[in-house]
Amino acid sequence: MAAKVPLLKLNNGKTIPQLGLGTWKSRPNEVTQAVKDAIDIGYRHIDCAFVYGNEKEVGKAITQKIADGTVKRDDLFITSKLWNTFHRPDLVRGALKQTLKNLNLQYLDLYLIHCPQAYKEDGSIFPENESGKIIFSDVDYVDTWKAMEPLVGEGLVKSLGISNFNSKQVKRLLEHATVKPVVNQVECHPYLTQVRLKEFCESHGILITAYSPLGSPDRPWAQPGDPHLLDDPKLKAIADKIGKTVAQVLIRYQIDRGNIVIPKSVAKSRIASNFDVFDFKLSAEDIKLINSFNCNERFMPMKTSLGHKYHPFENDEF
Ligand SMILES: NC(=O)c1ccc[n+]([C@@H]2O[C@H](COP(=O)([O-])OP(=O)(O)OC[C@H]3O[C@@H](n4cnc5c(N)ncnc54)[C@H](OP(=O)(O)O)[C@@H]3O)[C@@H](O)[C@H]2O)c1
Repeated sequence: MAAKVPLLKLNNGKTIPQLGLGTWKSRPNEVTQAVKDAIDIGYRHIDCAFVYGNEKEVGKAITQKIADGTVKRDDLFITSKLWNTFHRPDLVRGALKQTLKNLNLQYLDLYLIHCPQAYKEDGSIFPENESGKIIFSDVDYVDTWKAMEPLVGEGLVKSLGISNFNSKQVKRLLEHATVKPVVNQVECHPYLTQVRLKEFCESHGILITAYSPLGSPDRPWAQPGDPHLLDDPKLKAIADKIGKTVAQVLIRYQIDRGNIVIPKSVAKSRIASNFDVFDFKLSAEDIKLINSFNCNERFMPMKTSLGHKYHPFENDEF
């Protein structure tokens, strides 16, 4: 079953399954079952992060599915991310080691810088001042990257990547990098199509991983009246025409554009239906139409770190 997920070639010759399971907001008491279900259904790519607070429970599922013979470690592609409070170069290795311990793994397939902007080190993972504002650190993501590069040679990670970097930040990183990032994981869906960033990254051999592909309806800061991608009548019309669900169209929209896509679910039926996207394709006209829905709507604006010198979404950068 897993064989039907296309593998995309990374710029270092390795491959990544184009569809993976997201785990942000998946509660510790439900994520173990969700990851086990996903592996049984055929998912081989799991997207994790230290800051999601559930790596141990994800690791439990991976360990069990390897132990019961469903998969071998080599069959899986496991991503995690370096959180903002660990950007200082002397903290990078320890942060990765903690993530490996949490996941009960010897190596990661992909380790991303979660965000370009660093937060104050050595305290809470969301360090706040008295007025509830995040306390920043001015560590340069280029220095963080330099500390990550040796981890590849040591076999602790197979590939390195970035997340939430704008095109200027990608460009600046490439001017200093010895190990090239293989992906830039960014928010991407019909309301934020990322056409320019995708073109820019791909011109440098960097693939886009689309996060929040369904519009992240369970994001903690969602407000009544916010746009709701899964209920968009224009997308519903396309889905009805094809005989698929809106979620399946949203996932296929990424696959047909050559992006990697990581929808999150903890419900077995939705984990299964989100995987059932390999018996149809969107036409070029449908993709063009969906691209026209772009309205630069960010469901992840990272408002709490606005004002940070490395905030990626200020100043109209793409
Ligand atoms: N790098 C970053 O900064 C960053 C930021 C955001 C996200 N991510 C990654 O990307 C993953 C996906 O993004 P996301 O979690 O923000 O949102 P998402 O995948 O766009 O949406 C998840 C939500 O959609 C629901 N859902 C899933 N399948 C569905 C279906 N077929 N029909 C209707 N509803 C469905 C889920 O509910 P149920 O669980 O109840 O099914 C959940 O409420 C994350 O989990 C994380 O791994 C990375």
